[in-house]
Amino acid sequence: MTVKIAVLVSGRGSNLQAIMDSIEKGYIKNATINVVISNKANAYALERARNHGIDAVFLDPGKYDRDEYDRAILNVLNQYETDLLLLAGYFRLLGNKIIKAYRNRIMNIHPSLLPAFKGLHAQKQAFEYGVKVAGCTVHFVDEGLDSGPIILQKCVPVLTGDTEEILTARILEQEHVIYPEAVRLFTEGKLKIEGRNVVTGI
Ligand code: GAR
Repeated sequence: MTVKIAVLVSGRGSNLQAIMDSIEKGYIKNATINVVISNKANAYALERARNHGIDAVFLDPGKYDRDEYDRAILNVLNQYETDLLLLAGYFRLLGNKIIKAYRNRIMNIHPSLLPAFKGLHAQKQAFEYGVKVAGCTVHFVDEGLDSGPIILQKCVPVLTGDTEEILTARILEQEHVIYPEAVRLFTEGKLKIEGRNVVTGI
């Protein structure tokens, strides 16, 4: 069976790119990205999707109230018969209706070692806090902020002389490794959620 993926984005789309490439190279098998949805009209991620022949949809948050916006997203997800929803640099809270409809089938990538540094500018938060180890997390999405069960994490060192930009780039490189890996595990049926614990079967 082919796992039909939808991706929610807001900006650059480098994580989207890593996943598209992983599918094209056959690292992720039995999966297609059927649609990419953005809340920003000029998100470069939309262009990346079109370059790969993937439908790219801009849903304007200005045109709906919160509930209607969630319904609009749900409509698109249903229209494309979505099995797995990926948040890839999506900077808007996902409504509970969507979380309920796709429970345990929504993943997010966050640029910190959760539960540390939730929310916006996680790399800046970590850098300013003075941590010696930073990293990134792929997790299932629940109703809380960056709080769902953790699927994979990768750590990177914070080195003398680093700037926030250097650290952010070092983390991003690992995001592009663990997000495709988490999607591959999902598509191969190797992820089992037991309470807060995700058993990866590897
Ligand atoms: C990534 O670093 C991702 O982890 C982060 O935004 C960036 C998006 O980059 N997401 C969050 O901070 C979510 N809280 P991309 O558009 O190039 O994938």
